[in-house]
Amino acid sequence: VPAVIVAIDGPSGTGKSSTSRAVAEQMGLSYLDTGAQYRAMTWWMVHNGVDVSDPAAVAAVVDKPEIVSGTDPSAPTITVDGVDVSGPIRTPEVTAKVSAVSAVPEVRARITGLQRALAAAAAQGIVVEGRDIGTTVLPDADLKVFLTASPEARAARRSGELKGADVHTTREALIKRDAADSTRKASPLAKAGDAVEVDTTELTLLQVIECVVTLVEEKR
Ligand code: C5P
Repeated sequence: VPAVIVAIDGPSGTGKSSTSRAVAEQMGLSYLDTGAQYRAMTWWMVHNGVDVSDPAAVAAVVDKPEIVSGTDPSAPTITVDGVDVSGPIRTPEVTAKVSAVSAVPEVRARITGLQRALAAAAAQGIVVEGRDIGTTVLPDADLKVFLTASPEARAARRSGELKGADVHTTREALIKRDAADSTRKASPLAKAGDAVEVDTTELTLLQVIECVVTLVEEKR
């Protein structure tokens, strides 16, 4: 069986991570959370006192952190210079700053290189989730899926994940981050022309997983 490359893109709160992990696990594929890589870069910048509102300052240090992603879907890991940062990259501070860091072209060039190397190394294939995987990182992916959901559904899901965080505050922060990610010059969040769009608003997680598994099977 040849390796199958699956790109899953969409805004936050559409179930991208849960879906991608489950599909990879069920189908024996590797899994890569590219948002975690941008968060790890952002965490390192914050940790080292880099002014993330200054693109030149960010670009100047982009090669310094060593970011390593473990691609086993049953236990994804991410380290920066050997330190496990899977917890610290989810703080509100990193979440608020990640869009500014990920908009810097030098950051994208470096992280895109890591992503392509991991995809090329996955013997059985890989599910890669993010914002620009189908459009920029892996334009020749065997299957491209673009997940969407209403803003209300996305905010409600994120608040649930954050255990009781105010839905209104979450909704505002999420809309702001999606707007920044969609309007930046460098590789914005966008649906590839050949991506299959799945609106998850009225679907359960299990239904979304089943839908994507079926789409992958059709390509295999
Ligand atoms: O998916 P997650 O919410 O963890 O992504 C965090 C941020 O990383 C996004 O808001 C976006 O700024 C950036 N990102 C990106 N390109 C990707 C994946 C994530 O710019 N492929």
